[in-house]
Amino acid sequence: MNFTLASGELNASRTPCLMTSFQIAKKIAKAAGNQSAFNRATQDFKDTVGSTLCVQMEGPVARLLIIGGTGEASAQNFAKACNVAAKTLIKLPIAQALVALLDAKVKGKDAAWKAQTLLQAISHAAYQFSRYKSKPAPAHQLKRVRIQAPAKNRQGVQRAITLGNALDSGMALTKDLGNEPPNVCTPLYLLAEARKMGRNPKVKVSHLDEKKMLAMGMGAFMAVSQGSDNPGRMIIINYAGGPKNQAPIALVGKGITFDTGGISLKPPPAMDEMKYDMGGAAAVLGATKAAIEAKLPINLLTIVAAAENMPSGGATRPGDIVTTSSGKTVEILNTDAEGRLVLCDALTHAQTFKPRTIIDVATLTGACIMALGSHASGLFANDDALADDLLDAGQDTGDRSWRLPLWDDYQAGLNSNFADMANVGGRGGGSVTAACFLSRFVDDTPWAHLDIAGSAFYPGANKGSSGRPVPMLFKYLVNQS
Ligand code: BES
Ligand code: MN
Ligand code: ZN
Repeated sequence: MNFTLASGELNASRTPCLMTSFQIAKKIAKAAGNQSAFNRATQDFKDTVGSTLCVQMEGPVARLLIIGGTGEASAQNFAKACNVAAKTLIKLPIAQALVALLDAKVKGKDAAWKAQTLLQAISHAAYQFSRYKSKPAPAHQLKRVRIQAPAKNRQGVQRAITLGNALDSGMALTKDLGNEPPNVCTPLYLLAEARKMGRNPKVKVSHLDEKKMLAMGMGAFMAVSQGSDNPGRMIIINYAGGPKNQAPIALVGKGITFDTGGISLKPPPAMDEMKYDMGGAAAVLGATKAAIEAKLPINLLTIVAAAENMPSGGATRPGDIVTTSSGKTVEILNTDAEGRLVLCDALTHAQTFKPRTIIDVATLTGACIMALGSHASGLFANDDALADDLLDAGQDTGDRSWRLPLWDDYQAGLNSNFADMANVGGRGGGSVTAACFLSRFVDDTPWAHLDIAGSAFYPGANKGSSGRPVPMLFKYLVNQS
């Protein structure tokens, strides 16, 4: 989708569709001499969140798409109204539309926030993935959306539009990578997609192959990857958008392109959904793409631990002990707890770049879905300021997380009789023990871990990637720049 700032006065606009609040729609209809037809068409319309109505008009505005409940709304209701409206808008047989919604009174929010919320809703509604349908359902026709802004807010809204376009394209990458089938989206495919970003002169893409990782002592990563015929890769992207000597922000993503569980094999129901086990990788790649497109003045280090978790004659057995690149040893009691194994070596590698902050993103535990469902990502951090920054970014974008504890009390669950630690903890608090495991591989760097097992994709009938937590990550990066 292409979002632009509308020029000129709303009254003088010519458009196949104007999407706006009931109040503004009334004014426009009156100004165009359509008042009585408008009144008839809207006599049963209820101006509440979730209701929309499209009114055909004569004159320069061919349609008025009225968004209920947007004269005055809470932030949450405004976002809800935008989501409903975007779904209606996308179905219209039009190539472009004009939106005038920024006059709405939303408590505590400015025009730039409203624009951001609106753009996110439209870009979400517009996303389609039909690459593998031999007769795809007809694509929507909407290509361009112009946003009308009150004169005093034009600068802020223009910025929101620039960022919104970048987020739209980053999230499309995240969703596409997630939705691609696991026979296509392999570790090598993730590397090829990362390399495309390297066309930008400020971006360098490199990787470690398995031979290199073995030589570097990444025994935990290799324990996961060794069972698969698809070779694993550690993908490294450097974006130098900021001051030369400024330490980068590091994003680390779990990129298990398919998680069978390995020898600790998963049960068959919904196993196909484990193609989304590279959701963390897809999210950090999408956030990186958005940051590059928005030309954010920051230095970014993005690391993707890409591997496939398969059972085979060469696969890791429960009970195997491996040495990680940090030197710490791990007894692998469950080969299905593979995310933390690839991530610990990735975290160790990230720290060699001396980042100022590390954020890892992973579909790490089913326990996180039990705890939080799909509405919030699980957030763990060794640093309160970083945790608060991420919580704020999530709140602002409606892509929320909820902080869970990293208390020492939980660490004991990882005790092993034979190695420095086991890769699984006791029965309860599975998301916490997973985070505790990761924490052992981070020294003094402020670090946060996002468990997105519940938020990265919609399971079941509406199966598909959600693109989360790219809005939160991107907002965090924008706020840091
Ligand atoms: N990828 C899964 C976690 C997951 C489950 C993500 C469902 C999305 C939806 C992860 O690798 C895993 O299998 N975790 C195990 C850990 C356990 C063996 C300690 C789990 O959650 O059962
Ligand atoms: Mn697993
Ligand atoms: Zn997994």
